[in-house]
Amino acid sequence: MPPQAPAQATHSDKAPYPTIHAASLADPETFWLAAAAALDWARPPVRAFDATAGIAGRWFPDATLNACHNAVDRHVAAGRGEQAAILYDSPVTGTKRTISYAALLDEVETLAGILADLGVGKGDRVVLSMPMVPEALFGMLACARLGAVHSVVFGGFAANELAVRIADATPKVVLSASCGLEPNRVVAYKPLLDAAIAASPHKPDACLILQRPQGPATLVEGRDRDWAEAVAAAKAAGRRAACTPVAATDPLYILYTSGTTGTPKGVVRDTGGYCVALAWTMPNLYGVAPGETYFCASDIGWVVGHSYIVYGPLLHGCATVLYEGKPVGTPDAGALWRVASEYGAVCLFTAPTALRAIKKEDPRAERVGDYDLSAFRSLFLAGERADPDSVAWAERALNRPVIDHWWQTETGWAIAGNPLGIDLLPVKHGSACVPMPGYDLAILDEAGKPVLAGTMGTIALKLPLPPGCLPTLWGSDERFRASYLSTYPGWYDTSDAGVVDADGYVTVLGRTDDIINVAGHRLSTGGMEAVLASHPDVAECAVIGIHDALKGEQPCGFVVLKAGVVREPGAIEAELVARVREQIGPVASFKLALTVARLPKTRSGKILRGTMKRIADGQPWTTPPTIDDAATLDEIGTSLRARGLAS
Ligand code: COA
Ligand code: AMP
Repeated sequence: MPPQAPAQATHSDKAPYPTIHAASLADPETFWLAAAAALDWARPPVRAFDATAGIAGRWFPDATLNACHNAVDRHVAAGRGEQAAILYDSPVTGTKRTISYAALLDEVETLAGILADLGVGKGDRVVLSMPMVPEALFGMLACARLGAVHSVVFGGFAANELAVRIADATPKVVLSASCGLEPNRVVAYKPLLDAAIAASPHKPDACLILQRPQGPATLVEGRDRDWAEAVAAAKAAGRRAACTPVAATDPLYILYTSGTTGTPKGVVRDTGGYCVALAWTMPNLYGVAPGETYFCASDIGWVVGHSYIVYGPLLHGCATVLYEGKPVGTPDAGALWRVASEYGAVCLFTAPTALRAIKKEDPRAERVGDYDLSAFRSLFLAGERADPDSVAWAERALNRPVIDHWWQTETGWAIAGNPLGIDLLPVKHGSACVPMPGYDLAILDEAGKPVLAGTMGTIALKLPLPPGCLPTLWGSDERFRASYLSTYPGWYDTSDAGVVDADGYVTVLGRTDDIINVAGHRLSTGGMEAVLASHPDVAECAVIGIHDALKGEQPCGFVVLKAGVVREPGAIEAELVARVREQIGPVASFKLALTVARLPKTRSGKILRGTMKRIADGQPWTTPPTIDDAATLDEIGTSLRARGLAS
């Protein structure tokens, strides 16, 4: 029997969850206007939703607000100035720093003043390429303060990926740091930024660079400014910028995520709906109260980091932990428990892959006992399917509810989860539990018809999507329609396959497109194929995600060399691995390139990726009747076994 929620996390005075969910669908106006009362508005919303606006409707169309005011200023005004807002803990640099709400306001007002002096105003874009340091949060909030649109790019991407994002977002200013720190190396950010700006047709007017002692950078004269010097000068001059109210429908940020092609999708997040949705989740989904500590061990480069390192906890007046370290190796498998204990975190949010990494090093969970976790109430998991073994292991280790919840960059918050703050519903291992308010979820067959409970299909969300979900893709309404709305008219296609059981529990089984999930990082195999195909010796290729005990999946590339190539295949394979690292980044974890004589295809020329994956994963497979040459599948098995795979 899974552990029950500690009493303080639930609120039995609230209606039961099914009633709340039903109310959100039956009368969204009333539901979301009530939820909007958790925020300060410059012009409060009179109505919640305008179905005629935008592509699929817009939330809070008549309201204005400022996200930074709601995340920072209003808490200081309400007397939380001395309370911790950011708890920065960096085992990779040996640094800890507590930043109160009053100090956060001071930093953000100042940085907003600097950005304003660099010409940044409402609607302008600012790209952030930053490690997990407090200044990154100051930067995001300073943009929000000015009504500017931030776009954070994860540090594990290569210069080319940063260039694509700079070209698409056309930022006035880039905020960056001289370096980031991985346990095994210093990651020099500045050369990546310089290369990205050189490669992008759009050039920012200015870059503000945070010099870190672990790896200082050379600044480009005329373009780059030293962050610390700029802040010192602004503070000496008393330069501060006030909050600019924006329309609730104005974008707060753009976050690029992998699509089915190599070109990333710029997910647009509008301000009002997002703040309302996150503010609802803090007490109701996570069961967290203002003043408590929330620890999300993700990265600000991902949506989980945007929502639950930055905006969710701060909107709710919590202290948020900013952890610059890993679940293992910094220094050991007790790291997350140490941080949770030290700051009295009531909730930890991480990815299943982090649990697997901890379990591998500390299978008996002995490190948990090293720390006082008396304040700790729940562990939330997302980013990939939570395997039942790891969930059961964590339940035993922590004796707390371990809650899987499912979401996407596009939605910004959980589509399905277990609403701990209302009622802890019975946990079913392997399932992400029930749809959250506003999500009208169904499993559709190929014809777009809802299927019976227990039948697998595509998970779709009936339009309109709830507040917080993307209204469009940056600069590309057409791609938004084509990617999400055209397959099943009237529905948003999640591109996840799954099943809903008779109790309404959702189980997510995997993607229906070519996205793979490597250590909780979302990657496009199409993007990797484009890199392999650009190698002069490669005639054709296919990349699939194969099972990996730690990372969930790892990419594996199969290449057919051009006729007449006489070079050693091993040398070409090493070049391909290096090429993906250089062009996409280390985050792709692309370590396996296999040369084969032919790729298995149907008679119409479609590569049989699904069957290749089953072979690689050692699962039962059958020869599809449409195959062109059945021997090609055996050859795939042989080349995988030669690498110790597919057993
Ligand atoms: N900047 C630069 N490089 C980065 C990086 C960053 N922010 N994050 C990861 N990388 C690099 C890593 O150093 C590694 O490089 P390497 O090939 O030289 O070793 C590579 O990208 C792959 O990283 P990753 O897949 O994360 O593997 P890992 O072995 O470094 O760590 C885990 C494994 C499980 C500890 C780690 O993946 C993890 O903590 N995952 C949780 C992910 C998460 O929180 N996702 C958000 C969804 S909730
Ligand atoms: P991202 O946009 O990076 O958050 O990745 C979203 C994708 O990760 C989803 O479409 C799913 O395929 C997968 N995912 C996220 N959370 C879960 C979960 N709890 N269970 C299963 N898959 C998940």
